[in-house]
Amino acid sequence: MKRLLVTGGAGFIGSNFTRYMLQTYDDLQLVVYDKLTYAGRLENLQDVARDFAGRYAFVQGDIADQALVAQTTRSHAIDTIVNFAAETHVDRSILDPDAFIRTSCLGTYALLEVARAQGLRFHHISTDEVYGFVREGASVEADPLAPRSPYAASKASADLLTLAYHVTYGLPVTITRGANNIGPYQYPEKVVPLFVTNALDNVPLPVYGDGMQMRDYQYVIDHCEGVDAVLRKGQLGEVYNIGTGHELPNLEMVEIILSRLGKPRSLIHFVEDRAGHDRRYSLNVDKIRALGWQPRHTCQAAIALTVDWYAANDWWWRPIKAGEFREYYARQYGQRAVLGVGQ
Ligand code: NAD
Ligand code: TYD
Repeated sequence: MKRLLVTGGAGFIGSNFTRYMLQTYDDLQLVVYDKLTYAGRLENLQDVARDFAGRYAFVQGDIADQALVAQTTRSHAIDTIVNFAAETHVDRSILDPDAFIRTSCLGTYALLEVARAQGLRFHHISTDEVYGFVREGASVEADPLAPRSPYAASKASADLLTLAYHVTYGLPVTITRGANNIGPYQYPEKVVPLFVTNALDNVPLPVYGDGMQMRDYQYVIDHCEGVDAVLRKGQLGEVYNIGTGHELPNLEMVEIILSRLGKPRSLIHFVEDRAGHDRRYSLNVDKIRALGWQPRHTCQAAIALTVDWYAANDWWWRPIKAGEFREYYARQYGQRAVLGVGQ
């Protein structure tokens, strides 16, 4: 792994991964390949472009454009593709699933075809959401997939295609399934940056349903280290879960945000629930721990670090919240009934 193509590298996790990898490995050449959708932002990589100019390049393109992917991997002599590119917000997948299917299904297929033709290693970034609602216990990698949103189903499709290319063509693949990531540069449609930035502006936090859904909020750099561990030490054809291994109710996450910012509970607005909302995800992370990786942050510590980053970096999120985001916010939350207010 000396020459990486990072698809979706201008998004939240991909940009953190790009920075982390270039900082960690002096001999690494890295190309970010990204369509620059509303979620892909060159600001996320401006320090990378400055600090690693000789070892970093950016190509704008769609992963479903097989010819451009093939030309990019060939001209940069890529040996490994790490696929972060996806449409990633569950709520948007409920409003409009089309781009989710195009990118995760057709796009991943195009990348796999390029990897097959050129003999490249392929690592696919997946999610705990492919396991669906986990009523009890924790998901292990061999569990059946039971996705319940268009987003989760599009991701599960990509996982299955990736594994099929390993079995059928012997393609050297690995997959990681991450829990909810939080940290710098996450688009403020996702719950933690949405709630932090709303709270900073004294705008209500729209908590879906009773707020007792369980999520494992992991710090993004822990996830990046996990992906790196699997790239170096993972067994080909295998899947690895990555998370803290502990989940908490959304309301506890909200309490941490409000208390860290010194804001009142009256900002909590309980609103009409998300359709098909998965009440709980839970990951067993023993398999990746056996590679020598471990998370460095608890969910609580990850939330606190994330609050502090958004409080200190409004240069990054204010322009986003003033743009396309306003239209989305009105569509997603404008008609939602408020069912109660925090006391
Ligand atoms: P993000 O929405 O912040 O970034 C996605 C990036 O992909 C953007 O830069 C976007 O421009 C790019 N992209 C979208 N469609 C593309 C296409 N057709 N061709 C090329 N580029 C395209 O998402 P994220 O939160 O950084 O997630 C990255 C990956 O990690 C996704 O595959 C997601 O499913 C997975 N994941 C995310 C989380 C999480 O909590 N955010 C958890 C587990 C797994
Ligand atoms: P989200 O960040 O959308 O991630 P995911 O649904 O992929 O886990 O949401 C995390 C949790 O927060 C999930 O249980 C839904 C809830 N949530 C709210 O309560 N209100 C909101 O406005 C959003 C966006 C999410």
